[in-house]
Amino acid sequence: MINKTYISNSYDDTLKIGEDFAKYLKPGDIVTLDGDLGAGKTAFTTGVCKGLGITEYVNSPTFTIVNEYRSGNIPVFHFDVYRLTSMDDLYDIGWDDYASSKGIIFMEWAEIVKNELDEFYYEIIIKKRFDLGDDSREITICYRGENI
Ligand SMILES: Nc1ncnc2c1ncn2[C@@H]1O[C@H](COP(=O)(O)OP(=O)(O)OP(=O)(O)O)[C@@H](O)[C@H]1O
Ligand SMILES: [Mg+2]
Repeated sequence: MINKTYISNSYDDTLKIGEDFAKYLKPGDIVTLDGDLGAGKTAFTTGVCKGLGITEYVNSPTFTIVNEYRSGNIPVFHFDVYRLTSMDDLYDIGWDDYASSKGIIFMEWAEIVKNELDEFYYEIIIKKRFDLGDDSREITICYRGENI
C-alpha cells in the first residue's frame, strides 16, 4: 500500500519515481494517471514499465486506445482514454476482459471513467509546479480501495 506525494524536478526523476513504484504492483492491478497535456503520465508509465522489466518502447496509445507490452513477467495493458467519453466506450473495447486478466493496467486520462470503475486502483495525479521550476512536477500516488 502506498499513499505518497513526490516532487520530480526532471524527466529522469519521474522515471525513477515510477520505477520505484513498480514494486507495489501485482498481476491484475490498475493504475490511473491524470494530469495536463505533457504533465508526464507517459513518462511515469515508462518508468514503471522499466521497473516491471518491460523492454518495449512505451508511448501514449492516443489513437489505438490500448498498447500491450508482453516482454516482462506480467503483461501490461497501457490505455489512453482521452478520446473516450464514458465508461460505456470502455466496455465496448472489451474492458471486462482486460480488468479480469492477470495483466497490469495503466490508464492515462482516466478522469472521465475512474469514478465508475468497479475495481480498486492506484491513482496517480501529476501537476506541473512552475513555481518550483519549468521541469518540476508534483506526483501523488494514492490507493483507491478499501481501508483508506
Ligand atoms: N519532471 C518531469 N517529469 C516528466 N516529464 C517531464 C518533466 N520535466 C519535463 N518533462 C517533459 O514533459 C513531457 C512529458 O511528456 P509525457 O508524454 O510523459 O506527458 P503526458 O502527460 O503523457 O502527455 P499526454 O497528455 O500528451 O499523453 C516530456 O517532453 C518530458 O521531457
Ligand atoms: Mg501520455
